[in-house]
Amino acid sequence: MKQDHTDLTGKTCLISGSSRGIGFETAMELARRGAHVIITSHNQERAQAAYDRINAEFGTERARYYLANYASQDEVKQLAGNIQHDYDQLDILINNVGGWFRKFQPSPDGIEMTFALNHLSYYLLTGYLLPLLQKSPSPRIINVSSNAHFQAKGIQFDDIQFQNNYNTFGVYAHSKLANVLFTYELARRLSGTGLTVNALHPGFVKSELYRNFGVFTPLVKLSATMFGKSTVEGAQTSIYLASAPEVAGVTGKYFSECEPKESSPASYDQSQAERLWALSEEMTGFKYPL
Ligand SMILES: NC(=O)c1ccc[n+]([C@@H]2O[C@H](COP(=O)([O-])OP(=O)(O)OC[C@H]3O[C@@H](n4cnc5c(N)ncnc54)[C@H](OP(=O)(O)O)[C@@H]3O)[C@@H](O)[C@H]2O)c1
Repeated sequence: MKQDHTDLTGKTCLISGSSRGIGFETAMELARRGAHVIITSHNQERAQAAYDRINAEFGTERARYYLANYASQDEVKQLAGNIQHDYDQLDILINNVGGWFRKFQPSPDGIEMTFALNHLSYYLLTGYLLPLLQKSPSPRIINVSSNAHFQAKGIQFDDIQFQNNYNTFGVYAHSKLANVLFTYELARRLSGTGLTVNALHPGFVKSELYRNFGVFTPLVKLSATMFGKSTVEGAQTSIYLASAPEVAGVTGKYFSECEPKESSPASYDQSQAERLWALSEEMTGFKYPL
């Protein structure tokens, strides 16, 4: 995998879901390179621990943390408001938060959890923070998707919440396809503005993502332990897209192992991307000024 050690002194980066896992290791490395990192999570104890580790290693004010439940649209809005109040500019936004849920669960807004957390939070946080990103001379948006998106043949518009055929992996794959469609549609809408947006697959990573498998949890965790990458390795493509000079100006692409890759045929369907965009507007009540 390509190694890049670009100095990020003076850059401010927000990473959603960065109290642990791939998001934490991404924040840690960006801080190591000089960036100021904004840790966000819904868990006070873990966010504080992540913040303490980064500041202990790199000095105070290298990290700050904010709490928000990304499945709640009000909390995403409040978080974005706090960031806009506390910062003049944002250089890098990494939408990384994600999860999967063994059974149908409604979010605080009554929306199926996987779609609310994995897709709508990316749509909403990016939209709210766009004005701050536009103040950066070279802003980058990075959306952490997954090769699981290849398993989704399209967006299920007739039952977006999987009320009729919920299955954990299918719903997760569907949300990860939404990440890629969102990335490509946003890149089209931002074309010519200098703001770039790319999606990525981090690899099969031994993180806490695989904790919701009911009786199969120990088996899945064992397989991740045996065959998965470390979280440090899993963070490399996010770090690369956030920092490498060679991807400055590159937008609307899908990456894995720090290389551009083809995403699934369904992800290139522009009419699906436009329809998903309209649906996201409707489900959040938020319209981008684009
Ligand atoms: N692991 C893999 O093999 C793999 C493969 C492909 C793609 N991905 C993608 O990589 C991204 C990161 O996953 P990961 O493996 O690092 O997962 P992880 O270890 O479970 O970490 C997820 C992070 O998100 C936070 N989070 C979860 N739900 C949240 C909520 N409702 N509100 C706020 N924060 C929340 C978690 O905080 P707490 O710890 O405090 O709950 C944690 O910091 C996800 O988008 C995932 O889909 C992972």
